[in-house]
Amino acid sequence: MRKPVIAIDGYSSTGKSSISKIIAQELGLVHMDTGALYRGITYFALQNCLNRDGEINLPELFSRLNEIQLEFKPIDKELVMFLNGKDISQQIRSNEVAANVSLIACQKEVRDFLLETQREIAKKGGVILDGRDIGTVVLPNADYKFFLTASVEERTRRRFVELQSLGIETDEMSVMHNLTSRDKTDSEREVAPLRKADDAILIDNTHLSKKETIALIISHLHDI
Ligand code: C5P
Repeated sequence: MRKPVIAIDGYSSTGKSSISKIIAQELGLVHMDTGALYRGITYFALQNCLNRDGEINLPELFSRLNEIQLEFKPIDKELVMFLNGKDISQQIRSNEVAANVSLIACQKEVRDFLLETQREIAKKGGVILDGRDIGTVVLPNADYKFFLTASVEERTRRRFVELQSLGIETDEMSVMHNLTSRDKTDSEREVAPLRKADDAILIDNTHLSKKETIALIISHLHDI
């Protein structure tokens, strides 16, 4: 049996991570939510590298990247994110992290720091990585590449429901603002911008349920 490498990129709240997680479970693959890595670094920066004005001090963060150890540990069949031994899976979903993560993800030092972690997990095959630059930069030779998109309204609705279920207080306008500004920063950055790889299959799932999107992706996978 072949062990494929699958890249799933796309805009915020198109369901990349939850869809990748289910496909990985169904096909016996390992899943890495690479957005969680960028969120983990952002959380570290907010805890440890603020200047007097309460803004992230980037030079300080760069000099302390070697203090950061990010791990995914399986707990109750879920992969939970740990930062230096502490479960931070809830904290990385906060509004504060969401508001700052694109600034952190623009930084070449941060992207270089995370590149090896992502490539290492893909080495043996049998993986799905979801993110923004997996098919273009991290794993340009992936066996399968998908790029997910959906209308801003639908993505806002999905993220709003998700945040509510996590007990995070917010409103739809703020969620929409956060999504669109992150997508803009992610698409316009110089290093590894968010973009569809030329050989990626484009899926607009505005009118598709999660189940339908999963079935569509699986229908493209052969010999697995
Ligand atoms: O996927 P998620 O919304 O958790 O990603 C959070 C942020 O991390 C994105 O808005 C983007 O700035 C950054 N990111 C990235 N490259 C990836 C994955 C995420 O720049 N491969």
